[in-house]
Amino acid sequence: MLIQLKEITKVYRTREIETTALDNVNIGIEKGEFVSVMGPSGCGKSTLLNIVGLLDKPTSGSVTIDGELTSELSDRALAALRNRRLGFVFQSFHLIPTLNVADNVELPLIYRKGVSASERRRLVEEVLEKVGLSHRTRHMPAQLSGGQSQRVAIARAIVGSPEIILADEPTGNLDSRMGAEVMDILHRLNREDGKTIVMVTHNEEQARQTDRIIRFFDGRQVQ
Ligand SMILES: Nc1ncnc2c1ncn2[C@@H]1O[C@H](COP(=O)(O)OP(=O)(O)O)[C@@H](O)[C@H]1O
Ligand SMILES: [Mg+2]
Repeated sequence: MLIQLKEITKVYRTREIETTALDNVNIGIEKGEFVSVMGPSGCGKSTLLNIVGLLDKPTSGSVTIDGELTSELSDRALAALRNRRLGFVFQSFHLIPTLNVADNVELPLIYRKGVSASERRRLVEEVLEKVGLSHRTRHMPAQLSGGQSQRVAIARAIVGSPEIILADEPTGNLDSRMGAEVMDILHRLNREDGKTIVMVTHNEEQARQTDRIIRFFDGRQVQ
């Protein structure tokens, strides 16, 4: 099992209210699986992805990634695990508006020791080619369509060769044609490069094309 969540509960506390975003969730994901996560708004999907992605910690329960019990790692080791093994794609792209396409994609490599500038350039070219954007390297994010922006975000997510891609409604801001392009890329990354993918989606048809659908309601897994 590549990703193992055991008895995960997440409670958000503000001064007035307590929200149980995840309630005793148990999930195992095998290496190479393409899994979709579905459920109504507010049922805990993003919370789940943030916890799998080590961006947030559960209130209780354990997250194990490739045999490493993450609660036992220092913040530094967690950051290293996140940087090397996990790639993130969000609904709203999260590109840096003041950096061009190539510089946005290069970002995750900047924090990595031992990768020379020429190697970084080579990797950036390679992933931009993979997402069909070799001809847009000097464009600024504002000059791109939504579909192109999301392909840049995918290139940035994979440039450091993570084995896991976490995508939170990656086609949520795209029309159906651009959404289909993004889905094609994710399927290729899964099939050809063996990436393990966990994707939140509201689109039943997209979900049906993945290996497995995990459904949530009110912080709990259903079925
Ligand atoms: N940072 C936070 N502080 C307080 N409550 C939060 C926070 N993030 C999410 N929630 C609450 O947790 C629940 C699950 O949210 P979320 O995981 O974003 O759901 P989804 O992605 O399925 O729409 C919601 O009730 C939401 O309001
Ligand atoms: Mg969400």
